[in-house]
Amino acid sequence: MSTLPDSALSVLGRPQARIEGPLKVSGRAMYTADVELPDLLHAVPVCSTIASGRLTSLDLAAAEAMPGVHAVLHRGNVGPFYRIAGNEIDVGYVDEARPPFEDDVIRYYGQYIALVIADTFEAASAAAAAVKAGYDTAPHDVRDALQPDDAPTVESERGDAGSAFERAPVKLDATYVTPTETHNPIELHASVAHWDGDSYTFYETTQSIATHHGTLAQMLGMPKEKVRVISHYLGSGFGGKLWVWPHTLLAAAATRLTGRPVKLVVSRRMMFQNVGHRPVTQQRVRLSAERDGRLTSLRHDYLNHTSIADKYQESCGEVTPVLYSTPNLRVSSALARRHVGSPTSMRGPGAVPGLYAIESAMNELAYELGIDPVELRLRNEPGVDESTGLPFSSRHLVECLQTGAERFGWSQRSREIGSMRRDGSTLGWGVGVCAWPGLRFSAAADVDLRADGSARIVCGTQDIGTGTYTILAQLVAEETGIPLERIEVRLGDSALPRGPVSGGSAATASVVPAVLDAVRAAVKTVLSRAATVEESPFRGADADSLAFSRARVHRKSETPESGIPFERIMAMARMYAASGSGSAHGGFDDPLKKRYSIFSYGAHFAEITWQPEIAQLRVSRVVTVIDGGRILNPRAGRNQIEGAIVMGIGMALFEHTVYDERSGAPINSNLADYIVASTADTPELDVTFLDYPDTVFNETGARGIGEIGLAGIAAAITDAVHHATGVRVRRLPVMIEDLLSPRTAV
Ligand code: MOS
Repeated sequence: MSTLPDSALSVLGRPQARIEGPLKVSGRAMYTADVELPDLLHAVPVCSTIASGRLTSLDLAAAEAMPGVHAVLHRGNVGPFYRIAGNEIDVGYVDEARPPFEDDVIRYYGQYIALVIADTFEAASAAAAAVKAGYDTAPHDVRDALQPDDAPTVESERGDAGSAFERAPVKLDATYVTPTETHNPIELHASVAHWDGDSYTFYETTQSIATHHGTLAQMLGMPKEKVRVISHYLGSGFGGKLWVWPHTLLAAAATRLTGRPVKLVVSRRMMFQNVGHRPVTQQRVRLSAERDGRLTSLRHDYLNHTSIADKYQESCGEVTPVLYSTPNLRVSSALARRHVGSPTSMRGPGAVPGLYAIESAMNELAYELGIDPVELRLRNEPGVDESTGLPFSSRHLVECLQTGAERFGWSQRSREIGSMRRDGSTLGWGVGVCAWPGLRFSAAADVDLRADGSARIVCGTQDIGTGTYTILAQLVAEETGIPLERIEVRLGDSALPRGPVSGGSAATASVVPAVLDAVRAAVKTVLSRAATVEESPFRGADADSLAFSRARVHRKSETPESGIPFERIMAMARMYAASGSGSAHGGFDDPLKKRYSIFSYGAHFAEITWQPEIAQLRVSRVVTVIDGGRILNPRAGRNQIEGAIVMGIGMALFEHTVYDERSGAPINSNLADYIVASTADTPELDVTFLDYPDTVFNETGARGIGEIGLAGIAAAITDAVHHATGVRVRRLPVMIEDLLSPRTAV
């Protein structure tokens, strides 16, 4: 067996193109909305046009009379839905707990009030527009400015931050605001549901077929074996596709009623209303320090909006307690209810807005102190996780900062505002640190080593566009020496052994131990047959003295070339496949977290150019260094970090879902008015992985890199804006108007 993590033949750590890439670029990969089934019907929801009140009437006559319309679902005929018992990722999880049509109360603009089922999408759309609703309207509140509904909850505390702040010679007290942001993956949410009289099959856009499976069984009142969830490819999710949303239940009700498969594709407008968003956050940060920059206290009090019916918390303070050394710290949270759809996880939930606030405050403090902002962070590097006293499993934040500073040329930064220029533009340079917890969830996988010399690996996880197919093939290739192109990977079906959610940046670290277990069990079977089967040259040998490498069976004491291809052993044993199963445990209560503090870290350095004459602000350079453990596929990994930086440019400069205070509607609910960063907004990105294996976490040393890159980048950009213009923007996104007036924007 090859030895992880360092082998001369290593497939892990190689920049490997995605094995499913050809299917995607040739249009052959089937996404949910591409699924066609015989007798397929199409469903289009009708959305409420008020944000608060009651639905008093539905006039369906015109809609029902339109050609091609089969039925209109509403509260009176939708059939039963159940609520789930509690939120557990392994059992069932939703952010919007109320099933669709459960009552006649309207709690947000766009809430589904009816569903038209028709022969074609066009017929269903036309009929949905013909449904007339009557309402009793009540006052709504969608204001961005937040007051806590209840007393704040203290989440982390050490020492006495209040009195340390009072006594300190240098203080900063600032409030930072991040807006509602909406997930805009290219692929719309969709569900194709099919009830065959006995069982449901769902083709779903989901980051967790396993959680969808459990949730749908509970909410539809079905045994789990009567529900199957399939998701072979996803056009990204960014957290918006983690959990079941009401449209999937409506698709289920539609197929339940008609007995025909039903396709429901959520529109881009509905993506802003009905399937989650990152909530508004308002974060007050108080820092105090000695004149030499050592922090004496850190206080982080934040609140976020949530919906009327659900308590979604944006955990802005999750990484705050581990970031810097300080004897006195306090983190608290609170919620404020608004008439909006439920918020949900959006890439780097919590830490992303949280680190915009904390890192902005650190940059402001550095400026006050006259200390270089990189140096300020180095002076506050902790030796252990001071929130728990636990050792870090692997932390290289100092090296991230130093390597990044060097690659960026940070030592050339002149401190004075507006003092750096290039080609007629003012330059601004800024820095921000990122962090994200190392997470892993339970996983199971099966591996077959087959008679034709190929291998097959199956796991009920999914590839959301990040490279999971490829990582699984790499793990099998690494362990067996079977070439990648001879390894078949099957994912995305709840009928397969249960796999992890593709969320929390946890999928890779979760599947690694399960896959390695499974492949080793299969290898062991081959070796034991090699030691016993009649014609085998190894007959009579101790199976433990044999090895499996370069797809060959050989004596450990000799080279792979001295042995024979494993398929010869399979033929001698008349076997079709040697199968192995593996599993691994994890979760938010992972016992390893009682012994180690496990986080990924990184640093961003951003350069902006500012041309006040034409009011043009551009991000012109980003250097990022990430300490994410061992990177199993640097090509897919770089793609994750680069994508996150592009999203971070959007967060800093563009993204903002605007609720119209009169109607309560998110009004920029399309890709023309909701601006995401595009290639034209993105400079060359310089991404470096430190690549220190975190072998405490798993054998390969991989942690997870899907989310961390979005944290800290907005703080680096707004600090660069300050460096160029002198304006501190504490409310995202940066507006050009902020920079044209002489005041400090708040
Ligand atoms: Mo991530 S926001 O857990 O998909």
